Amino acid sequence: MCGIIGYIGSKNAVPIIVNGLKKLEYRGYDSAGVAVNNNGEFCAVKKRGRLTELEQALKKTPIKGNIGIGHTRWATHGEPSDINSHPHLSEFNTIAVVHNGIIENYKELKAKLEKLGVKFSSQTDSEVVAQLAEYYKTKFGGSLLDIVSRVAQALEGSFALGIMAKDNPNTLIAIKKDNPLIIGVGKDGNFIASDVPAVLEHTKSVYYLADKEIAVIKKDSIEFFTLEKEPINKEVSLIEWDASESEKGGYQHFMLKEMLEQPKILQATIKHAKQRLSQKEVLDKLDIKQYTKIVITACGSAYNAGFVAKYVLEDLARIPVEIELASEFRYKNPIVDDKTLVILISQSGETADTIAAMREAKSKGATTLGVVNVVGSCIATESDVCIYTLAGPEIAVATTKAYSAQLVVMYLLAIKFASDLGVIDEKTIKALENDVNSIPDLVDVTIKSTIDTIAKYSALCIGYSSIFFIGRNIDYAVALEGSLKLKEISYIHSEAYAGGELKHGTISLIEDGTLVVAIASNPRLFPKIMSNVEQVMTRGAKVFSIETSLVNESDRIQHKDLFRIKTHSINELFSPSLSVIILQLFSYFVAANKGLDIDKPRNLAKSVTVE
Ligand code: G6P
Repeated sequence: MCGIIGYIGSKNAVPIIVNGLKKLEYRGYDSAGVAVNNNGEFCAVKKRGRLTELEQALKKTPIKGNIGIGHTRWATHGEPSDINSHPHLSEFNTIAVVHNGIIENYKELKAKLEKLGVKFSSQTDSEVVAQLAEYYKTKFGGSLLDIVSRVAQALEGSFALGIMAKDNPNTLIAIKKDNPLIIGVGKDGNFIASDVPAVLEHTKSVYYLADKEIAVIKKDSIEFFTLEKEPINKEVSLIEWDASESEKGGYQHFMLKEMLEQPKILQATIKHAKQRLSQKEVLDKLDIKQYTKIVITACGSAYNAGFVAKYVLEDLARIPVEIELASEFRYKNPIVDDKTLVILISQSGETADTIAAMREAKSKGATTLGVVNVVGSCIATESDVCIYTLAGPEIAVATTKAYSAQLVVMYLLAIKFASDLGVIDEKTIKALENDVNSIPDLVDVTIKSTIDTIAKYSALCIGYSSIFFIGRNIDYAVALEGSLKLKEISYIHSEAYAGGELKHGTISLIEDGTLVVAIASNPRLFPKIMSNVEQVMTRGAKVFSIETSLVNESDRIQHKDLFRIKTHSINELFSPSLSVIILQLFSYFVAANKGLDIDKPRNLAKSVTVE
């Protein structure tokens, strides 16, 4: 949700910023801009549309400077337009600001400043930061740190800010609250950025800014202060990701590259999660005997991963698990206490609703476990215990590898809890662990053996205006993810239903030629879901059926309107890890055959850091 990058050093900031913005485009892409301070003069170029528009504009109006800030926007307040794009300059061009977040009291601040004669030029909440800084600068003077400290204390809401002053070309200031910001330590200068990939080609040494910390960044020094300007010491962290991991590496889309990386990242995640689950600190906090229930809360695909986990945890550990959308959980006065384990699942670790849910759970005394991909992110650092998914940087807006990595962490957690509670015997535990260990290879086989067939079949599916996904039990949870994936990137309307629920209304939407994707990975429920398939086919539907190989051929439906893919045999509880691969590939190829911008679907952003 908006990407920020800034640079101060001995090089020209503009190409560094534009390249950084390319790495941050997944955070928002309806407009972009860059501003530099060139020997005491601000020069800014801002453009509505994709980054390529900004690049074109910069060709026509080249700018340069050794300090600069850039922004890629996902509009909240004010439509996408050149004027509403960031950086925002104050009325007399003395302050330039990039902002990610929402200034909740901007109307009040704007009204006060307008009464004082300040003229605003945009409809954004962000401009108020630049105008307020200029007002304080004129009224109280002081250093840029003094001004930013004063401004930040007047702001309500969430913000990550990069700020420059025209009369101070040697200082770049960064501050954050409830939105991510990192400071990169380079050889020829220093950086600020919303996320690690933006600086990876320059440095692997970063500081994670905590809420209400201010960084005063110069060409060759970085200092940190509290909001009240007390100096603070921070430790630099070394990033383990490789710069090439956030490159497309010859693939047409990041999504394809990320899907194909799944066997490798699953292996790494399984190894890491096992280690984590044997560490004393983790064992103490996650002693399942202390808890009477588990609540999983998350958004989007992470919620769907939690939905799968509910089935696995309840089945194996026999402990009640509730699954809640984080945006609902945070406002419902949830029933959680010190006997509840609340699990937050999040790729970015920065989703505003999931962060709020975590804080709500903590305030009620619950223990929180974060299952997070981005190291140093808010949920990773604020949760009581964190298990990382080692999916590496995920750039495509529609998640694939991070979702798969979340699943395996949750499987291992379920096995651990079942073992600690003594509800399964040693032999079963060993067998389940072996099943999880086999997932990376089975995912590899699934990709290799189905990709060409799915690519061909998907080309036949681009004309559907609506597609239904059905499944029972854990397959229903996977259906939710399959449906979300398809609509996110192909713009085809789709819905997921529990197979048994279809006849309670939805079946009225099935007509001649509707496509129904059925997931049938559970041999016990196979006849049940096939009877749902019969019901829709009788009404004219075509069916794409993803079936377990563990049933007799004679039990399968043979029909010209049914296209079948069989999945490899796997414990049914872990079957989502294979069926989701087929669903991801299906969505990808439908969208690719429609010629859509797969990595950056319209209106979406990868990291939703606002409500
Ligand atoms: C956005 C993304 C989804 C993601 C969700 C939660 O909607 O487009 O792919 O699942 O946010 O994000 P998180 O970073 O918390 O997993």
